[in-house]
Amino acid sequence: MVKTQPFGAAPPPAGRAWGEELWRLEEISHAYGDVVLFKDATLSVHRGETLAIIGESGCGKSVWLKIMLGIIEPDEGRVLFKGTDLQKMSDVELEQVRQSVGYLFQAGALFDSMTVHDNVAYALYEHTDMPLDRIRERVVHCLEMVGLESRIVDLYPASLSGGMRKRVALARAIAVEPEVVLYDEPTQGLDPQNITRISNMIESLRDRLAITSVLVTHDMRCAFGVCDRIALVHDHKFPYVASPRWFLESEDPPVKEFIDDAREDLEEVGIVAKLSAR
Ligand SMILES: Nc1ncnc2c1ncn2[C@@H]1O[C@H](COP(=O)(O)OP(=O)(O)OP(=O)(O)O)[C@@H](O)[C@H]1O
Ligand SMILES: [Mg+2]
Repeated sequence: MVKTQPFGAAPPPAGRAWGEELWRLEEISHAYGDVVLFKDATLSVHRGETLAIIGESGCGKSVWLKIMLGIIEPDEGRVLFKGTDLQKMSDVELEQVRQSVGYLFQAGALFDSMTVHDNVAYALYEHTDMPLDRIRERVVHCLEMVGLESRIVDLYPASLSGGMRKRVALARAIAVEPEVVLYDEPTQGLDPQNITRISNMIESLRDRLAITSVLVTHDMRCAFGVCDRIALVHDHKFPYVASPRWFLESEDPPVKEFIDDAREDLEEVGIVAKLSAR
């Protein structure tokens, strides 16, 4: 039985309305040899929402983001972006889709031969005719948003810590102010202060710029504290797609099993009380 909560089960927070379907992935199946990742999995992303994708390590979350972007073509199923099938798009159209999307790879993946400035500015150089002084301002602004000082602009990635590299990659993902950002583990490897900073940044991109975000995360504070809806990968599908509050109250064994370890922490930091009050 499909237990997906209807979209109405996750009402938008006060003062906001759900937008139309930006993405719809329909009946996606994908396997590597005997390793089945997805089997008839369907998921939609609505404009303006922040959606968390959670699930066990190795279940295919990073692959799912790459399917969304057309980097990986699924064995079966359709990926619709604003109603158009990615597989029917020309290379130019596909490139336009990718340009409208900011993407944070799980490993960060900076260009080692470029300075921090040029890494963050890369898409601005490539896809805009912004003057150089404005590009520099934008780079500094994006670095500030992720808690990095402008004095690091001339450094190369090799001289940065892992957490700093992650944040430079985040700054790069948001530099062109894309209408949607896909984050693969945005808070992984960061210290508590920066985890909070990045969570706040994702929230503020939604609230100030109406940016749609999809984030794959193992960080339950981030999923429950920041996101409008959560989608749990289970049994190669998304049988549970609902509000954070629904997840906390659910008696379904797979949901409880996944959430239980985090419950105490979510209570301690006040996220349970905040969600219950909604
Ligand atoms: N190109 C590929 N060829 C073969 N197997 C692959 C390929 N890409 C991914 N896989 C396999 O698919 C599985 C899912 O990978 P994926 O990275 O999407 O998991 P994940 O849910 O993101 O895990 P984590 O939470 O640890 O990041 C893994 O077993 C991985 O080895
Ligand atoms: Mg992953």
